[in-house]
Amino acid sequence: MGKNTVTLTNNSTNESFEFDLIECTRGPKAIDFGKLFEKTGIFSYDPGYASTAGCKSTISYIDGKNGVLLYRGIPIQDLVAKYKFTDICSLLISGELPKDSTESAEIDLELRHLSFLHEGLINIFKAFPDGAHPMANLSSAVGALSTFYKDYMEIDNDDEYQMMAKRMIAKIPTLVAFSYRNSIGYPNVYPDISRSYVENFLFMLRAFPDGKLKRTLQGEVEIDKLEVEALDKIFTLHADHGQNASTTTVRNVASTGVHPYAAISAGINALWGPSHGGANEKVLAQLAEIDDAKNVDKFIARVKDKNDPFRLMGFGHRVYKNYDPRAKVLKGLKDDLAKKGIKMNNKFSDIAEKIEEVALKDEYFIERNLYPNVDFYSGIILTALKIPVSLFTPIFVIGRMPGWCAQVIEHIKSGARITRPRQVYEGK
Ligand code: SDX
Repeated sequence: MGKNTVTLTNNSTNESFEFDLIECTRGPKAIDFGKLFEKTGIFSYDPGYASTAGCKSTISYIDGKNGVLLYRGIPIQDLVAKYKFTDICSLLISGELPKDSTESAEIDLELRHLSFLHEGLINIFKAFPDGAHPMANLSSAVGALSTFYKDYMEIDNDDEYQMMAKRMIAKIPTLVAFSYRNSIGYPNVYPDISRSYVENFLFMLRAFPDGKLKRTLQGEVEIDKLEVEALDKIFTLHADHGQNASTTTVRNVASTGVHPYAAISAGINALWGPSHGGANEKVLAQLAEIDDAKNVDKFIARVKDKNDPFRLMGFGHRVYKNYDPRAKVLKGLKDDLAKKGIKMNNKFSDIAEKIEEVALKDEYFIERNLYPNVDFYSGIILTALKIPVSLFTPIFVIGRMPGWCAQVIEHIKSGARITRPRQVYEGK
């Protein structure tokens, strides 16, 4: 059977052109427009790339209509229920989940051994003033990794790909913890590799300079395993998400042939924006501004007022035109933690649930398919885990790191040409 094709007719010149339809395993097919300009002398125009595939990928799949997210073909609900974040890192990077609990423990331990930073790199944080936003020093520190770790700059075989990814995944929690402690004038606490990957991160955030956690008359207050499990799930839910703005940035920068540290540092900066990963921090500010569930209707009215630029942070999505499956898991996790005694900010939780209740019945949101997204409930949980708001987007960075690394590797392996879009010129 011949290839499936589509025919494009230019009605102003009556010329017709044929283009191949690219097959896929799930979701929409794509018209191969690689030769559109060559054949027709015309560009396609799709600002924001709402209908444009810039690459082929096997890493994650989003069904926006039905609210489905798969990592390597497996629904995230199954993964978050059965596996640790470090297992998901293996799935995204190598394509395989650990075959048993021993392999799972080995993966976690190997990452802890790689979690230390070159002493010279640690000085970078001292250059930043107290109060510097951790995303600022984090993107600088990740770019600076290339000056301390000169191997894996040119990666052209699988072992090097894997080692580069393990290094980034292992060091990012330490970089986040150090960037935060420096932003509040605290000395760093080094990784304690007797603790798991996720617990180690909470330890580096909370421990006193002597490496001890908070003490009471009864002794040292250990880190609650419920907190570790909750943060582990949050990292998993953020691990990859198709060609979102920061992943597209990472792939575009990688397409110039520069080393992965530069590509991922660029991705961190892209994620920082309030329309993207920075939304989780803005949701908390918005809940504080609304301050009481009885004020929700007033804010919903502001959303609908064309003259008011107010947008509901944590709502809406370019791809999901249904409830973001990650938001569903996070909402359930919030309620589960509260039932198990983790102190939740009930006022914020009530406001968020009231917003969801009102919005999902409101014509404005219904006709635009606006639902809660991954950022809507995550901040309420992170607050309950005693994570400072300035670390919400850096937490997203830790979760997304395996996805970015997997996407860089996929892009380099695909032999992709440099990303170089065209323009519709309207100048003189
Ligand atoms: C993430 O892409 C990914 O996969 C990202 C992400 C990932 O895992 O990587 O899922 C993570 O970034 C989640 C999104 C976090 N951002 C926010 O929560 C910020 C608030 N949401 C938006 O600004 C918006 O919904 C976007 C940026 C997420 C999507 O923007 P689009 O697809 O460009 O949609 P749009 O701006 O064209 O909006 C379409 C309509 C407009 O109304 P009309 O002009 O048709 O009248 O919907 C309205 C918008 O005004 N709208 C909103 C809204 N989001 C869209 N109205 C009020 N509140 C909102 N949040």
